[in-house]
Parts: sequence; structure tokens; C-alpha cells
Amino acid sequence: MKSVKVGICGLGTVGSGTFNVLGRNRREISARAGIEIDVIQVGARRDNPSCNTADVAVERDIFAVAKNPEVDILVELIGGTDVAKSLVLEAIAQGKHVVTANKALIAEHGNEIFAKAEAAGVQVMFEAAVAGGIPIIKALREGLAANRIQWLAGIINGTGNFILTEMRDKGRAFDDVLKEAQALGYAEADPTFDVEGIDAAHKLVILASLAFGIPLQFDKVFTEGISKVAPEDVGYAQELGYRIKHLGIARQSSAGIELRVHPTMIPEKRLIANVDGVMNAVLVKGDAVGPTLYYGAGAGAEPTASAVVADIIDVARVVQQGGRGIAPLAFYNAATQQPTML
Ligand code: HSE
Repeated sequence: MKSVKVGICGLGTVGSGTFNVLGRNRREISARAGIEIDVIQVGARRDNPSCNTADVAVERDIFAVAKNPEVDILVELIGGTDVAKSLVLEAIAQGKHVVTANKALIAEHGNEIFAKAEAAGVQVMFEAAVAGGIPIIKALREGLAANRIQWLAGIINGTGNFILTEMRDKGRAFDDVLKEAQALGYAEADPTFDVEGIDAAHKLVILASLAFGIPLQFDKVFTEGISKVAPEDVGYAQELGYRIKHLGIARQSSAGIELRVHPTMIPEKRLIANVDGVMNAVLVKGDAVGPTLYYGAGAGAEPTASAVVADIIDVARVVQQGGRGIAPLAFYNAATQQPTML
């Protein structure tokens, strides 16, 4: 095999970022993968002026990419759950590995998708689905694999954290900052997902599944967003020595597993209280390692592309070895353990 062949579906913020990073860092990426990685096809309804796809076949019908016999890895970056689910299932049925940044898809349909992928003997990777460029999926699945995870808590929506930060530091109006987050490519296609906590809930479900070995259960998350946080709340919190942060929290207790996302008052001396702007941070407490903290950009074209490309490299190594390699599908180990709303 001379190269691993990639088809990218979706040329929005993350799709164009992924295309550009793969091109710009081609030498380093191929050296680390141990094989050349070639983008041979892009599926997109429209071109994106921020990336030059002149040398690649651009297909308006994204399903043509899933059916292309030359493609080894389909990269799903179209977002949403309807077409994206059909596309990913088609790719799996065609025996292709999948890399996705789609947290809604994984949180809501991951159990079915992983079962199909396992039966087909292909990988479905989703590092970019949680906390943008922070390699938190790898940390939970690999770096912390020796631990019983006791709890995790994080700022896992960049748009929401950007809004809260700008309200506090510059006294800006909520809607004005949200518009800027949309212009910067941080927000979801439907920004309600960001401001009502749905995006954070999707991500929390994925983290909890990895941390506690439970199936993905989006309906078990208590979800409250930041849309009711007023400038006065931010000001009062500051006067009292606190910062308002929107947190996703997953905690194992004797009563069950608690999953919740909501605004939280955090003393300003705590590290996580000082995570500002589009940055995300995830605290994970393991029984052996103790507390650990992961920090980085939670949204944006190239930070998210960094995680997508890391997955492409991992899968390229597996493809090169004839399909043998890590088994990212085995990410829950106690299917009987159910999250409980406490
Ligand atoms: N809208 C998401 C956020 C994008 O702001 O965090 C990254 O998942």
C-alpha cells in the first residue's frame, strides 16, 4: 500500500481546517503515520474560499464519497444527525473507517453506530467531538486507562465560555458576543445548542461513557444553559470573588452516576475559573493518578482540525497494518451500569 486514502465530507469551518492542516503539515503527518495520507475526494455542497481544493475531486453528492471504493477513511464533518448518520452508516456498510467531529451524532446515535462498526470490523474515531483540540478522548481511553475515574468536570463549550468572558471583562451584551462567536466559526449551526447547554450535554455524555464504562445516554443529563445568565449575575459573582462558568459534571457516587450541565459559581482562585474565552478545560480525577487537568482551544477551525487529523493518523496506522490495531470501540465495559439523574 502506497498511501492511505481519505475522503472528507463537509467543507465548513472544521472541514476546511482539516483540509488545510493535512496539506500544510503533510510531511510531519506522513512521517508520524508511517505512510502517506492523501485526500482523494471532498464531498461538499459548496466550495469554501478558505481552502484550495483545485487538485482534489470535489463531489456535490457526499454519498458518492462513502461509496467510492478507493476511499479508506471517510471523514464526516457535515454536522447534524440525520444526513450525517446515514452517511456514516453507509461508509461503515462499505467497509470504511470513519473519523467524525460530530458530538450530537455520537451522543445520540453512537451506541448503534459503534455496534455496526464493530460488526463490520472498522474504526469510528471522534476525538474532535469533545473539547476541540484537547486530546481528552485519548487521555481517558489511553493515558488514564489504569484508573477508576471518580469524577470529571469541565468547561466544554467554547462559545458559552467566550460569551461569559466577554460579558464579564468588557460588559458586552449576550447577543452581540454570540454574533461574534458565530462569525468566528465557534458556534453550532443552531446556536441554541451552545447557549442552552445541549452541546455541552452531548460532550458530557461521551466523556462519561468513556470514563465510567456506560452506554451513551443523552436523555439522562440534567441540562441548563447560560441564556438566563444576566450581566448583573456576572457582576455580583465577581464582587463576591467568584466567576460564573458553565460546567459539565459527571460524578460516580454510591447512588449512581450523576450527569449535569449548568452555570456554576467558582472561586476565582481556582485554575478552572481562569479559563477564559473560547478555551476549554477538563478536570479528571482518577483513583490512582489523582486530579488531572487538560486545557486548550475548545472550538475553531484548526484546533478542531488538529484533533480530526490525529484520528486520521491513528486510523491510517491501523489501515497500514491490515486493520489490526487499537480497538477504540471497546469503550464501555459495564453495559448494565446506568446513569442516574440525582
Ligand atoms: N460550538 C462548539 C463550541 C464547537 O462552542 O464549543 C466545538 O465543539
